[in-house]
Amino acid sequence: MWRYREWLPLADGEAPVTLGEGGTPLLAVPRVAAKHGFRELRVKEEGANPTGSFKARGLAAAVTRAALAGAQRLVVPTAGNAGVALAAYAARAGLAARVYAPATTPPAILGQIRSFGGDLALVDGHIGDCGKAARAYAAETGAVDVSTLREPYRIEGKKTLGLELAEQLGWSLPDAIVYSTGGGTGLIGMWKAFAELTRAGWLEGKPPRLYSVQAAGCAPVVRAFEAGTDACAPWPDPRTIAVGLRVPAPLGDRLMLRALRESGGGAVAVTDALLAAAARDLQTLEGIDASPEGGAALAGAVELKARGKLHPDERVVIFNTGAGWLYRA
Ligand SMILES: Cc1ncc(COP(=O)(O)O)c(C=O)c1O
Repeated sequence: MWRYREWLPLADGEAPVTLGEGGTPLLAVPRVAAKHGFRELRVKEEGANPTGSFKARGLAAAVTRAALAGAQRLVVPTAGNAGVALAAYAARAGLAARVYAPATTPPAILGQIRSFGGDLALVDGHIGDCGKAARAYAAETGAVDVSTLREPYRIEGKKTLGLELAEQLGWSLPDAIVYSTGGGTGLIGMWKAFAELTRAGWLEGKPPRLYSVQAAGCAPVVRAFEAGTDACAPWPDPRTIAVGLRVPAPLGDRLMLRALRESGGGAVAVTDALLAAAARDLQTLEGIDASPEGGAALAGAVELKARGKLHPDERVVIFNTGAGWLYRA
């Protein structure tokens, strides 16, 4: 992703902490498209990143800046994949990483955090409870807290999702992007990228409509979007197998809701049964190892089309944000 270094927080002469993140394929999915009645559906395959998810982009940027600023110790609360990415990039930079994750996180994800040398602390609760523990640890030890939107650089790394998509489509953009959202860094990062590209004169026409997909068991953004409010009310008792979407009170709620509304997009919730079936479609019809969150993006696109929000002839891009194997026992 550092081919876009002029758009990223990296000064001349500085070297990034990198494992080769970004540069992921944008795949046509003809069988899935035919099954669900889309003419031009593509999947951006973020499971191909080092550490198996799009979280590599944000954490590469955050660890790069923290290391250059002299940090010795980093901490993150995570639904899972951000913890894997922090552990790996901290190891790459020679720094210590403490990771707070729910005890219910899939075992393969916890195993990856440990295998990269992350100091893993399991929390009886959700990512909000992990966030409290991470802030207490940072206050006590001086560790740098790289939680979603509590430092500025993870979003900068996520911008490369949008920059890369524009370049892969010949400096044009699709009509709509359907993205599964928990904390919202992916959506907000892409929105920022499109605004910067447009300001720089690199893009013509309107930016894509952005749609957020959430799990029916944790859908604070969908509820706020439908209620017309500009912030989310915390979701009680969040539950979903798409653990990355189990974020009951996202800090980026206002930014996300603004991006959805200003782009002319929206928000939709899908059940765990539907998102699991959609992940299976991507696996069995296309050979793409979709995570439950990637399945959610496809299930959301199908639902949006059924509601008339997406037209079958439109150019639609969905993101498989992580690799499915991380969720298998
Ligand atoms: C695989 C996967 N997809 C999507 C998300 C949602 O992330 P965000 O809303 O911060 O972009 C996560 C977050 O943990 C994730 O791990």
